[in-house]
Amino acid sequence: MAPRRASQPARAFKLENQRIAVVGSSRGIGLEFAKQLLARNNEVFAAARDLEGARDLQALGKDGSKIHLGQCDTTSLESIKAWVEQTAKQTDKLDTVFNVAGKASWGSLMEVDPEELLSLFTVNAVGPLMVVQHLLKAGLLKQGSLVANLTSKMGAMSDNTSGGTYAYRASKASLNAITKSLSLDLQDKGITACVLHPGWVQTEMVGMRGLITTEESVRGMLNVLEAEGTAINGRMIDYKHDEIGW
Ligand SMILES: NC(=O)c1ccc[n+]([C@@H]2O[C@H](COP(=O)([O-])OP(=O)(O)OC[C@H]3O[C@@H](n4cnc5c(N)ncnc54)[C@H](OP(=O)(O)O)[C@@H]3O)[C@@H](O)[C@H]2O)c1
Repeated sequence: MAPRRASQPARAFKLENQRIAVVGSSRGIGLEFAKQLLARNNEVFAAARDLEGARDLQALGKDGSKIHLGQCDTTSLESIKAWVEQTAKQTDKLDTVFNVAGKASWGSLMEVDPEELLSLFTVNAVGPLMVVQHLLKAGLLKQGSLVANLTSKMGAMSDNTSGGTYAYRASKASLNAITKSLSLDLQDKGITACVLHPGWVQTEMVGMRGLITTEESVRGMLNVLEAEGTAINGRMIDYKHDEIGW
């Protein structure tokens, strides 16, 4: 963990009445982030790969809530740029961006192939980095902003006691490395970057077999961010507020 410099004391985050983007919000954990953030009176910029098909997300916009729906396929640079451009017309700053879009596969040593590896790497690592890069280029992330990337502790070397799951583990380890660099590169701009592990959550990704609901997971992660504030920079923490070793 990189301690913040003495000249930059930790500052609290209040995830209320803020401008917050959720990338990958059509279902599962991303959809729940959008719901809970709206309930906290935030202005939410919710991006989905297939906006038309994202019925549950569309429904959130029907009660006059402060939501801006956008289309963003994080595997396409053109799509990321178009969503950032649209967002820049709606706000001059994002207080927080949650990179939630992710994909899993469980290929073992004798099954995994380059296609599976590159596909997961593209969604789980390249996408979040390109989203952050283009939000920075558009000037939407600035002093006080927070980048929260959804990782998995399966990408932590310290958690790998069972091997296997090559593509998913490698792609999330890569996201962790990317986020660590963001936390160092952006520190002087006053931008915080961290990775969050949501727990084993009942979503389509795990065939709804998780241990906790999306409600519990997201509530936990929002509490962690508020409790830590900028001290979370460069760290990996789970929804129960347990620190995860890299
Ligand atoms: N569930 C768990 O137990 C668990 C554990 C550890 C970490 N995580 C992480 O938490 C995050 C959310 O997972 P989840 O459980 O909510 O999974 P999920 O239910 O499978 O949802 C995945 C989300 O990512 C979106 N997505 C996938 N590829 C995308 C792309 N190219 N562009 C934009 N959006 C894309 C999906 O959109 P579409 O609807 O368009 O496919 C969907 O909204 C992921 O990063 C995952 O790795 C989950």
